[in-house]
Amino acid sequence: MKRTIQPALILFFLYCINPVALFSQDLQRINLVPQPQVVVEKKGSFLWSENTPVYAEPVFQELAKLFAMQASLSLPRPYNRNLKSNTHCIIFRKQKFTDTSSAEAYKLVITPQQVQILAANEQGMLRAMFTLLQLQLLQTEKTLVPCGEITDAPRFLYRGLHLDVSRNFFPIPVLEKLLDMMALYKLNTFHWHLTDGPGWRLEIKKYPQLTKKAAWRTKNSWKEWWNSDRLYSAEGAADAYGGYYTQEEAKELVSYAAKRGITIIPEIEMPGHSEEVLAVFPNLACSGKPYTQSEFCIGNDSTFLFMEDVLTEVMQVFPSSYIHIGGDEAGKESWKNCPKCQARISSENLKDEHELQSYAIKRMDKFLSDHGRKLLGWDEILEGGLSPGATVMSWRGEAGGIAAAKAGHDVIMTPGGYCYFDNYQSNPATQPEAIGGYLPISKVYSYDPVPAELTADEARHILGVQANTWTEYIPTAEHLEYMIFPRFLALAEIGWSSKNQKDWTNFQGRLQQHYLLLQRKSINYYRPQPTLEINSVADTVSRLSRVSISSEQYKPEIHFTTNGSDPVKSSPIYMGPVDVKGIATIKAAILNPVTGKMGPVMAHQTAYHKAIGAQITYNLPFSNSYPAQQEYTLVNGQTGSFTYGDGQWQGFEGIDMDITLELKQLTDVKKIAVNFMQITGPGVFMPNYVEYSWSKNGKDYSAPVRIMNTVPDTESKLVIKPFEVMVNRQAKYIRIKAQNDKHGFLFADEVLVY
Ligand code: ACM
Repeated sequence: MKRTIQPALILFFLYCINPVALFSQDLQRINLVPQPQVVVEKKGSFLWSENTPVYAEPVFQELAKLFAMQASLSLPRPYNRNLKSNTHCIIFRKQKFTDTSSAEAYKLVITPQQVQILAANEQGMLRAMFTLLQLQLLQTEKTLVPCGEITDAPRFLYRGLHLDVSRNFFPIPVLEKLLDMMALYKLNTFHWHLTDGPGWRLEIKKYPQLTKKAAWRTKNSWKEWWNSDRLYSAEGAADAYGGYYTQEEAKELVSYAAKRGITIIPEIEMPGHSEEVLAVFPNLACSGKPYTQSEFCIGNDSTFLFMEDVLTEVMQVFPSSYIHIGGDEAGKESWKNCPKCQARISSENLKDEHELQSYAIKRMDKFLSDHGRKLLGWDEILEGGLSPGATVMSWRGEAGGIAAAKAGHDVIMTPGGYCYFDNYQSNPATQPEAIGGYLPISKVYSYDPVPAELTADEARHILGVQANTWTEYIPTAEHLEYMIFPRFLALAEIGWSSKNQKDWTNFQGRLQQHYLLLQRKSINYYRPQPTLEINSVADTVSRLSRVSISSEQYKPEIHFTTNGSDPVKSSPIYMGPVDVKGIATIKAAILNPVTGKMGPVMAHQTAYHKAIGAQITYNLPFSNSYPAQQEYTLVNGQTGSFTYGDGQWQGFEGIDMDITLELKQLTDVKKIAVNFMQITGPGVFMPNYVEYSWSKNGKDYSAPVRIMNTVPDTESKLVIKPFEVMVNRQAKYIRIKAQNDKHGFLFADEVLVY
């Protein structure tokens, strides 16, 4: 019998190899970010033209007007129930939902005839209409919106973005553009960091000196200013850099945001980060002199009169229930030597300077609550006792948030390791200077704002999540967009979508569509790089390294080698983690499907070396702030990444590193190397030298061999450098000393013994 292939099978095969079919199978037509709770895709599209009429129930007339303006449609007409169900139009209708208590819940029903936008109130309607606008902006043909039904409500009440306008000043139109993007992605709180040492930014009518002088510094570049005398100038002076918002401008921005469903929370810093205030009102410093300290004098009642006057005006501009009073990073040294502060400590029966800070926050809390507002502060406000009405922003990791939630306080999670948009988002060597860290979009996406340590009851205090954008190294609006986008999209999704919907690959797929939207909105977003990140971890049971390779590209074809040669098209394709024995160099690159050429080759040394699991004695202690995995860190077979905050790099603060390794047995040691990191912004420097000596018995050591540093301390970009020494001897004990001549931080990882 002749074997024939059925036509249906041929069609099936064609479908499988047709890239368009594969693509559409892979990526859905409704690719929203954040992912809604329920999306049911339907066949067909709604044809959207400039003549499409909009109808709205009376309660939604104003919103529908904003929608019509944004979508270039004619003004909405009043909706009445006699409108035929097949009328081609967009309708804003009120509908109560019985299955959710969220004020932001909404439903969108898109058929070829009609788009129905349904919500119980304004907040829900805002989320719905921006969802529809987003959906339109995602289509390559903006006139065709895919049909389907979307039912949605947020996971968290609070979804915030913070912006520091003190270190660099951004004019109102820049902020409006940011608010427009927040609305499109359902972020609902803009935290406006208005005051800090590098400049006061809000008009206060009672204290014009704040904007005549404290809003202007002498150097354009924050870094130059910070590294010089940190002087202030005056409005209109030739050397003045800065700016401020008038109260009228701020009110207009508040109203602009409110129309888009966004609350603006102002931050007025106290008691620290206040050099600019003390420069113009030195009587509020302990010393009574300008340029001597950053903190207000807490012993002086004038400090509280000043803050209360300022907050009185702030509350007239900002209707938000929260007012942020800062509270972070106050140095407490000046209070120790200040008679007024010490008198306050004694008259108020306070234990120490921490309680003095807490006293100041409690006074502000009482003042705000007497005026019907609530106090929000960074997690340092926990120190010395949390004020009764305070809500905490947990930024130094999650510990502050956990403690506050357990004590029954509301919390907003914004931990440095996941939520700081001033950190590098890619290999620092390829990026414009940033403050440090390493926060690729995948890490933002991986964050769950509810810490595992909390019970369900305690978790109710987690109001939501926020990303912070400190602007030391962000001087322009373009650069600001570059640092915020596309990480902003990951933030939007972790704040809105339910936990069980989290799916990185699916998000990455949707992200591809959103690059089009970002282009349509002229956002200068960070483009995913063709480089790769290669990591390895030691598997001590099988005694090998497990290598994983990740990319910012969407499902790229990655080729790799394990013998140190450059990968070519015929090298194996990376499909998942690869096990490698001993010490090997892994090289990998992406095959460019258009040119057929290999992209940049990335190399990584796996480290199943001879010291894995060795005992380490610390002759000098590691830093309690950066212990990584304590005694295991330096010999765990995993090398640190681009940031010292990754739990791999071990810190030594102000002192040398001095350790002794005891290997499991007498070992043939060919070479020893220790990697150190330099990133000068946060005070991390290479050691002046690393000194090695070795011994068979732990008593008689070889003469030390010194390896000198060759990286200049003027190199401010991230450098990771191994200090290598050839040994070619048998040894069981190895002593390693690294001299910390700059007295900043040393960061080491890993100690490699070959
Ligand atoms: C902060 O990053 N200092 C709150």
